[in-house]
Amino acid sequence: MNNLAECFEETGKALDYPQFLADVLEGLSKEQKTLPCKYFYDEAGSNIFEQICELEEYYITRTELEILRSAGTEIADEMGEGVTIIEPGSGAGIKVQILLDALLHPRKFIPLEISLDALEASAQELKQKFPRLEIIPHRGDFTDHKDLGNLPLSSDQSERRLVFFPGSTIGNFSRAEAAEVLSNLRFLAGENGSVLLGADLIKDRQRLISAYDDSKGVTADFNKNLLVRINRELSADFDLDEGFEHQAIFNEELSRIEMHLVSTKDQVVRIDGQEITFARDETIHTENSHKYSAELFAEIAREAGLGITHQWTDAQQDFGLFLLKSGL
Ligand code: AVJ
Repeated sequence: MNNLAECFEETGKALDYPQFLADVLEGLSKEQKTLPCKYFYDEAGSNIFEQICELEEYYITRTELEILRSAGTEIADEMGEGVTIIEPGSGAGIKVQILLDALLHPRKFIPLEISLDALEASAQELKQKFPRLEIIPHRGDFTDHKDLGNLPLSSDQSERRLVFFPGSTIGNFSRAEAAEVLSNLRFLAGENGSVLLGADLIKDRQRLISAYDDSKGVTADFNKNLLVRINRELSADFDLDEGFEHQAIFNEELSRIEMHLVSTKDQVVRIDGQEITFARDETIHTENSHKYSAELFAEIAREAGLGITHQWTDAQQDFGLFLLKSGL
């Protein structure tokens, strides 16, 4: 896994500064400079991400919501009554509401989320909308084995679990990492449980690029906010005005969109007293978003010991929703 964040102790303490600093310095000392994409989501970044989801060019969120709505009855039939839903990286908890509406008397909801604010706000809202649902919010990082191991899962064999992993978050991981994330999801689901996962599908290159380089520049702001955050939290001096430009490219060979920040000049940036040198046109690679064919996704799932029991897509086949089970 990519630098499995030791951001949290067992009890789920705040993200510590030294870990963020260490991750940033480690990424920027590589030949191809990188920064971990999980650091996009501070408060400002989470807000910008919500704006991305509303963009005409960013088809992902609205398409997944549409598929979820139309697949609801089938998912409910397949899962039966009294399900426990576990959502790693639950965020604002919007998508799970569609699932909760569709399922037959869901019993428990266990959201796992790094942001305490998002966790508390979504738990409040869900409590009001679903008064009979038992909500057990858990603070943590789903890429951290320790945090996954600490989830309050019942040993009761009759508990049926549905692990919900929407949004094509899986696309942030390389193939090998994705197989590891999937096998963690499989572990969370247990023997009798299922995994419901959204994955973005391969499509026309221009549409892919537009989705990550929108005309309003919202995605550019999202990308650059990483530098804003580093300046603020790690007393760095990135030139935010014109030092770096947003770039989204499609890497055909690895079937992924890559986001980069391109240095517009030769420059030296100071981060917590350390000097980092940038040549003009050198980039910081900030995110990967892998795009799958249904076949490729099935193959990666199989590597993780998961088989597809159902799959749904939209009319344009832009996005895939997959229901997976252990050992098929
Ligand atoms: C939340 C990881 C699914 O890769 O499409 C959106 C993040 N980055 N625009 C994605 C993102 C740029 C998003 N995921």
